[in-house]
Amino acid sequence: MTMQIKATPEKRATRPASLPGDRRGKANVGRMIRVNHAGELGATEIYRGQIAVLGDRPCAPLLTEMAAQEAGHLAAFDELLVARGVRPTALSPVWRAAGFALGAGSALLSERAAMATTVAVEEVIEEHYRKQLDALGEDEADLDALIAEFRDDEIKHCDVARQYIAATGVKDAPAYELLSRSVKTGARLAIWLAERI
Ligand SMILES: [Fe+2]
Ligand SMILES: [Fe+2]
Repeated sequence: MTMQIKATPEKRATRPASLPGDRRGKANVGRMIRVNHAGELGATEIYRGQIAVLGDRPCAPLLTEMAAQEAGHLAAFDELLVARGVRPTALSPVWRAAGFALGAGSALLSERAAMATTVAVEEVIEEHYRKQLDALGEDEADLDALIAEFRDDEIKHCDVARQYIAATGVKDAPAYELLSRSVKTGARLAIWLAERI
């Protein structure tokens, strides 16, 4: 694994190489772009899975709108991978499959479970982007602006899903708590892996 990481150009920067876990204040931009690309790939697939199941339900237009924004986020990081010569995560097929399964699986439970999944995922992504914004230096103003814009979109997605849940009835059962916690744990693990592999 270390051999692969050495191939990434920003690891050869004149600054001291960052160690695993040493992220705050020391922006490793290549790693950021890689993980963001993986995350947006997963997000795109989550919505695709949800739409595959819920395409004719009342929440479909909301899902379609959010999916279109995720596709825009993904395209932007796709371009950045190429522009910065960053290797994409080797786990892309995994994020695709896991994202679709999570989207379709939650949607099969119910529309509200699908929305609860969106809330959980977006909360984790929002937090992840916030940490990146803290770590980025002034020399990365364009990337900073891009991530800030996408973070705002993720916050909106989270709000949309929360409002949908609130508008559709009963307060939730422990099952949703469990779903939310599982999804968040999975999303954090995915971020950790995508930063490294
Ligand atoms: Fe996104
Ligand atoms: Fe989102």
